[in-house]
Parts: sequence; structure tokens; C-alpha cells
Amino acid sequence: MRFLFLIVFFSVLHSTSIFAQSRRVIDLKDGWKFSKGNIEKASQKDFDDTTWETVTVPHDWAIYGPFDKEIDKQTVAIEQNGEKTATEKTGRTGALPYIGDGWYRKAFKLSELNKNEKVLLTFDGAMSQPKVYVNGKKVGEWNYGYNYFYFDITDVLETENVLAVHLTNQGESSRWYPGAGLYRKVRVIVKNKESIDHWGTFITTPMVSKDIAKINVKTNISGNNLKLITDIFDTEGNKVASNETTTIFQNQFEQNIPVNNPSLWSPESPYLYTAISKLYKNNQLIDEVKTRFGIRYIAYEANKGFSLNGQVRKFKGVCLHHDLGPLGAAINTSALRRQLRILKDMGVDAIRSSHNMPSLEQLDLCDEMGFMFLAESFDEWAKAKVKNGYHQFFETDVEKDLVNLIHATRNHPCIVMWSSGNEVPDQFGAAGVKRAKYLQDVFHREDPTRPVTVGMDRVDQTMKSGFGALLDVPGLNYRLHLYEEAFEKFPQGFILGSETASTVSSRGVYKFPVEKAKMKQYDDFQCSSYDLEYCSWSNVPDDDFVLQDDKPWVIGEFVWTGFDYLGEPTPYDTKWPSRSSYFGINDLAGLPKDRFYLYRSRWNTKDETLHILPHWNWEGREGETTPVFVYTSYNSAELFINGKSMGVQKKNHDSPQNRYRLMWMDVKYEPGTVKVVAFDDDGNPTEEKEIHTAGKPYKIVLEPEKQILKANGEDLAFVRVSVVDKNGIPCPKATNQLNFKVSGEGIYRAACNGDATSLELFHLPTMKLFSGQLVVLVQASKQPGDIKLNVSGKGLKKGVIHLKSIKN
Ligand code: GAL
Repeated sequence: MRFLFLIVFFSVLHSTSIFAQSRRVIDLKDGWKFSKGNIEKASQKDFDDTTWETVTVPHDWAIYGPFDKEIDKQTVAIEQNGEKTATEKTGRTGALPYIGDGWYRKAFKLSELNKNEKVLLTFDGAMSQPKVYVNGKKVGEWNYGYNYFYFDITDVLETENVLAVHLTNQGESSRWYPGAGLYRKVRVIVKNKESIDHWGTFITTPMVSKDIAKINVKTNISGNNLKLITDIFDTEGNKVASNETTTIFQNQFEQNIPVNNPSLWSPESPYLYTAISKLYKNNQLIDEVKTRFGIRYIAYEANKGFSLNGQVRKFKGVCLHHDLGPLGAAINTSALRRQLRILKDMGVDAIRSSHNMPSLEQLDLCDEMGFMFLAESFDEWAKAKVKNGYHQFFETDVEKDLVNLIHATRNHPCIVMWSSGNEVPDQFGAAGVKRAKYLQDVFHREDPTRPVTVGMDRVDQTMKSGFGALLDVPGLNYRLHLYEEAFEKFPQGFILGSETASTVSSRGVYKFPVEKAKMKQYDDFQCSSYDLEYCSWSNVPDDDFVLQDDKPWVIGEFVWTGFDYLGEPTPYDTKWPSRSSYFGINDLAGLPKDRFYLYRSRWNTKDETLHILPHWNWEGREGETTPVFVYTSYNSAELFINGKSMGVQKKNHDSPQNRYRLMWMDVKYEPGTVKVVAFDDDGNPTEEKEIHTAGKPYKIVLEPEKQILKANGEDLAFVRVSVVDKNGIPCPKATNQLNFKVSGEGIYRAACNGDATSLELFHLPTMKLFSGQLVVLVQASKQPGDIKLNVSGKGLKKGVIHLKSIKN
């Protein structure tokens, strides 16, 4: 037996103690062995894995590439996009090697398990179809790659153990990049057999007023003659309430605990409480579970819409796929936190996890940072969208998949709505209506406190069939022309824009002439950042804004998408080498496109926005019409080119074109300075901005989004890299090849430039700038200390910065 024993050591239980005082939760993070392929006997305990790669989990085996046109090449008609004839699609799932089998193995030691104990093995997600073996014995399997699941492994444990996980990804199984492998956390939980069940705590706040809130705590347990004490703590750690009970209803304790003068949770004030549940037997503590929750109340009412804590509001939401750009699907808390920080600045208050279960880390962060959450479950039910999609498992798995989603996440105050599906082809036909009802009933059974939606794109069908009428929240994906009719036909009295816009753009790329266009293609496979290009089924952001602003019964929108993602390179899905999306408000590197400022100008109500586009480096366009747009929270502004006024523009409520953007359509290009002066509502100049024509790239500039990292081997600093000319003016067209070197207590993790057509690999320490910018990810090691990032490029003055990592 020569497998690696980089051992996780569970503390030895005191042999005389009958019960442990509490459970222990151990992350299986380091020292995994990984190999691709379907390897015979890899499930067996004594299999020799010494030659396999050593990896840490979370891990995505496909993100290291290479990009390859042949991977998952599909000749299909995407019916959902209105296509009638099949064409060859490349890059639909990101052109990264996720298809096929992979194995992970990990040795771990468990010393002297007490006979009263049991051990659970938990996965927050495994892509996909995991088959799990402990000591050569199969302990379970789970088909859906996005779900959380666990197995009781007590009976197969020995002192020294080997866990082996076999994953299989089929081709044509997804409409985007799914990632591959153990991309979310794997843990072992050691607890008493008599204990609080896994996901056994369910906290709701059925009655909330200014003076008092009723906290309802249901606690499922295994065991007899037990007592439960639930203590509630505020954010500062003060105990604010407590309740003790021995009354059990079958296997459930139920407590109603008053909290006086509750601080309510909202995106603007994300106040969190913690419940500590302590389970006793014969006055001995035998289990303890901490559950964070928020006190808040939600309502969805006809003619009023959605309200949180009694205040009507509209969702300012974005849809997100689960990949983290250059990190692939491997979950990383600091990358997620950064995404949310960017979205917060934009004024976003809600996230939709399209089209699957969100990571638990993302939900934790949304609770803490203040984002409401629409937690989705499926992109397919029983009818196929892609050949090997979830429809294969629908009949057998759908209920248990929903139950796990709900049980694992229902205590998160951020979740204010469930979604049972996205644009499912089951919108057609009577069977689909029954499915919609059945799934909604499962949600209601497991969580009576939140409503359920479906993102509907076949609104004409669902108006006729009863599908839309039965949903708690009718969600419309696009189809703006049907909002009014759907509102009249559906009984709910409100409509959600469950998916909106799908405007396409490439950061820093502008095309002429400037005009609205559907599915527009250019030779460079980029889309224009004048933000006027969209798909055959979608629209520009302004069209959604009109409905959101003019129709009180529209309860908000979730824009497709907050960030670009790997795969689905519409409108270039038949054009290699396009391999990632153009839909993002921010690009794949998390750098803002111009659209960021358009949404910010209306969604961020705290800070002013004043943003000029395009850049002003148009050599060869001298004298040609080069429109200038300004995205701003101010209502009017004056534009100057090299000091000459181009006139004042005012937002015009009656013109959909000019209602949200200020546009100077006739500007003739001349190099120099573009200046905008914004006016307050009394007509006084109040803020100005300038952009300048840049000369040749001269110097590399590094701007870290944070400078202090945690020395935990996971924390990331995102460093923005750009080049400027001799006068310090950013060069918006620079494409210099740059090289990265990290020294000290950190490593180079990845880079990304947001170019959807780039085949450069993220993990290699070199990349070209795209539109003058890219982002480098530096990862802290486990040792605190100084970290240095050095960026060089031919003919450029190099950039150096110093970061620091400190003890947690
Ligand atoms: C929607 C779909 C999304 C994405 C988007 C692109 O119809 O729900 O997953 O494909 O279109 O515009």
C-alpha cells in the first residue's frame, strides 16, 4: 500500500467518554491525488496513486486547458434561440477539456471512533455523476453536478481510510462551461449518533414587528430522551434570547423564541443573528450546531409587488453563472467576495444563480454583504435542451435534488425566492403544467416561507396552458412585448423580469457606424461597447428600464449577466476561437465594461456616476463621425472636444433612446481631450470628467484591488494591469504581451484579459493586454510575509508592487 498519507487527523476521542461533547467538521482540502481517465481499480483501497498529480480541493481539472475547437463541437440548432437549422457550434461549453472521466483519491485517518459516533461525508458539489468509494466500498452516487449531498460512511470506516471519487462528464451535457471535478468543498463530519440531523435546523421569522420578532426554530434530531437549548446571539455576540425544551414531536423539536427590538436584515443593513442549538442527554452536552440567520419579512402582493420589511422595492438584480473566469468552476471565497464588491458598487441588490444551485460560500457572502438571492435549480426538466442534460435524471432525481437544495440553504436570509427552472421546454404541453405544479409543491412542502418562480421564455404558451398562472411568481425571460398581456392574463398581479437584456459588448471595443443591431457580427469577433447590440430574442438595457420605471406591477429585473462566463459565445457561437460570453456587464476578468456605468447611474443611488465613452484614440478617423455617450446619474451635461462645446444634452423622458443616456451623435473625431461637465437639477455645473488621446505605450501600471491578504493558501489579490503613455494617459488599444513573476509568500495564480477570443491559458504567467488592460491574480501562501508582483513587457517600463499577507 503506497498511497499518499498526507493525513487528516481527527482528534482521538477520550476512550472513557460515552459521548463527544460536540461534532467536529473537517475540510478535506490538501493532499488529494487526481488523475483523468476511467482508471480500472482506482476505487480500491490499495490502488497505487503515487504517480497521480497532487491537488487541493476545490479543484477544476479542465480550466488548465488547452482550449480546443474540437472539444464538445456540436452540430445543432439551438431551438430556444429560434434556430431552425443545425450549424456547427464551437466554444459552446468553453472549449476546455471537461468531458470524460476523472478520479480523486484521498487518504485519511480516523482514530478510535466511539461506538456512539457516526461519520458523514459531505460534498458541496461534484462535476459530475460522482460515484463515491470509501475503502473500496461504494458509499453512494449523485447525478446532478451542482447539488450538495452527503453519505453516512460509518459502517465502512477503518482507522486508516481511502476515499475515492469517480466523476464522469458527458459531452453535450451543458449550455455553458460546467467545470469538472471536485470544484466545491468536501468535508467529514464526526458526531454522535444521537445528534442534530444534517441540515436539521430550520429557522424562520413568521412574525416581525418593530418591538418583537418570533423566531421559529425547528430542529430535527435522532435519539431519545433529549433536551434542546437554543440560544440566540446578536452580531456583537450578546445573548438576546434563549429557550429550552424537551417536548418532541416525532423527531422534531419546535421552539418559538421572542427577540425584542429586532434588527432587521436587508441589503442596505445585512444584520445577522446566530442561533446556537445545544442538545443534551442526561444533562450531558452531546451536540452543538451554529446557524446564522436574519430577521426579515417578505411579501409578494397583487397591485403592490414585492416588499422587504414592509417596503416595496424592485429587484436590481443580475444573473450569474457559477464559473469564476480564470479560476474556472473551483470555488474561491475571495474571488466571490470581489465579484460582490464590484456588484455592490454598481448598485445591484439581488443575484440569480442561473441555472443551478449556488455555492454555499456565495450565499454566506450575500447574507453578510447584503444581496437578495433568487436560488435556481434546473435548466432542464423532463424535456431535453441538450442531448445529455438533466432530463436524463429528472424522473428519478428531481425530488431529492430539490430537497437537498432547500434543506442546505433555507436558513439564508438572502434567499427571497426559489426558481424551479429556466426556460424549460416543458413549458409546452399539459405534462409540463403538472411538473411545474409538482415542483412548486415540493418547494412549499419543504419551505412554506418563500415563493417559487420559473424563468419563462414561451410566454405565449404559458399564458394559454395555465403554466404561468399557477406559479407564485410569474418570471418572464425577455419578451418585453408580452409583459402587459401577461400581467393581464396571469392572476398574480405582478411580473418579474427573471432574465433581461442580454445585450452584448466587448470591453473597450467600439464599432462604427453607431446603430442598434441584432446578432451583429464583425471580423474580429467582438461586439461594440456603444451598448446597442443584442440578440434576436433580447434587447438593450434601456428597454427594460422603461418597463421597470413605468409599470408599478413589474417587480424588478435580473440582467443577463453580471459577469462574462466561459462558454455560450453568442453571437459568435459558430465562430472559432470565440469561447466565452459577451453578455457580461463586467468582462471575464471582472473589469467593468461601459454598461457597468449605465446600470450604476440608475442603481447606485448613493454615489454619482459620470462616465464617458468611447475612448479617444481613433487615429485614421480624423473628421469622421464618432459619437460620444455619457452614462451618468445627472440629468444633463455639456460636452467639450478640445475646449469646443458640443452642446448640452438632457435626459428626455419621452424618448426611449435619450431617457437614460446622454448622446452626442454628431461629434467629429479629432485627437485631444473630451470633457464632460454635468449639471445639477438647478443647472449648476457640479462635476466634470476628462479623457485624453494617448500616445505610445510606455509604462506598466499595477493597481491592486487589495493589498493585505490572509495567509491561508487561498486568499487572492486581484491586480489590475494597464499601460500608460509618457504622460500617464491610459493606452486603450494596447495589446502588449506581458510576463508575470510573483516572489515571496505568494504564487502567481492566473491572469485574464476579458478577450472572448483569446486562447492564452489563464494559469501561464504571460498574457496579452486586451483593450489596454488585464487582471493578475496573486494567491497568498500559508506563511505570512511579503509578496512581490513583477510585470514586464518588451519595450515597456516594468511594473512592480508589494503586497503583504498576514495571519488569519
Ligand atoms: C436565455 C437563457 C440563458 C442564456 C441567455 C443568453 O434565454 O436563459 O441561459 O442562454 O438566454 O441570451
